[in-house]
Amino acid sequence: MTSKAYALEASHLTKSFGALKAVDDVSFSVYQGEIFGFLGPNGAGKTTTLRMLTGLLTPDDGRVAIQGFDLQTSLVKAKMQMGVIPEVGTIYVDLTAEQNLALTGRYYGLSRERIAQRTKELLSALGLYDRRADRVRTYSKGMRQRISFACAIIHEPSVLFMDEPTEGLDVQSRRLLIDMVLELNRKGCTIFLTTHNIEEANALCQRVAIINKGRLVALDRPETLRSSFEKTQSVEVSFDPPLDGDALCGGHVSKVETSGDKFILYTDDLHGTIEYVTDIARQRGVRILSLRTRGPSLEEAFVMLTESTSRGCVIND
Ligand SMILES: Nc1ncnc2c1ncn2[C@@H]1O[C@H](COP(=O)(O)OP(=O)(O)O)[C@@H](O)[C@H]1O
Ligand SMILES: [Mg+2]
Repeated sequence: MTSKAYALEASHLTKSFGALKAVDDVSFSVYQGEIFGFLGPNGAGKTTTLRMLTGLLTPDDGRVAIQGFDLQTSLVKAKMQMGVIPEVGTIYVDLTAEQNLALTGRYYGLSRERIAQRTKELLSALGLYDRRADRVRTYSKGMRQRISFACAIIHEPSVLFMDEPTEGLDVQSRRLLIDMVLELNRKGCTIFLTTHNIEEANALCQRVAIINKGRLVALDRPETLRSSFEKTQSVEVSFDPPLDGDALCGGHVSKVETSGDKFILYTDDLHGTIEYVTDIARQRGVRILSLRTRGPSLEEAFVMLTESTSRGCVIND
């Protein structure tokens, strides 16, 4: 099993909800032992993809294999290989932490002894052993997320799926969860996580796929994607008398947008672009009425990655 190069293979995954194509012909593979990020804005199709990868939702088209087990033909074997922390928790709040773990352990066919051993191990590592007999209802969000994590890995899966696992967590719970994930990964577990946080993807993942409007728009190392992010910084400027947008293409400007009487110049070099704009104003004998800089924008990065015309200067009204 471990000789297989890929822990996960998805090919041509497609899912529609009525007229909406939530996931559109998505294909990618995840290497053994990799931390793979699935990054995209809200509504991009991350959860729908994850649900298809984990056998919770049947695709309209396409296939998934987990550790070489095809979900269509070997669902149970594939499921034994995976742990899942869904977007909305599936832990039972009226049960205690121990009971939740016992229930999940039994689902995966673990023996009573093994369940007891894993419960002690996991709850101690997660700082919840003292609270093991308390109902989950009395837990904070961070504590509940830790229990979800424990349930997801009780059977020692070789691939762990997490849907925006750090969303809404306090800094401490977030750190603890990330440390647990890294530790699990060091022991060889492959990690697939969805996020809309580019910083998180950057910090954790070896490779990141970017999904927007159901389509995979990029798959690369986070450093490479980061440069796309940096290109989304912008300078907003207006002139008196007004200039033509064409005049502003050049220098480090990758795209010019008009917004009322203002131009938004996208660039990876804010400082150079301010100088560039000042030079143009001087050359043309016009005054700068307003000038403002804006930091990188994730939404804009998704748009840029989606557009095929990411090179050269594009003018959009
Ligand atoms: N069960 C469903 N029925 C109808 N539309 C859905 C359903 N699940 C998701 N969608 C739609 O599919 C799109 C992708 O959703 P989702 O995969 O949850 O995105 P993400 O997790 O990236 O925020 C959204 O437009 C969402 O409204
Ligand atoms: Mg989601």
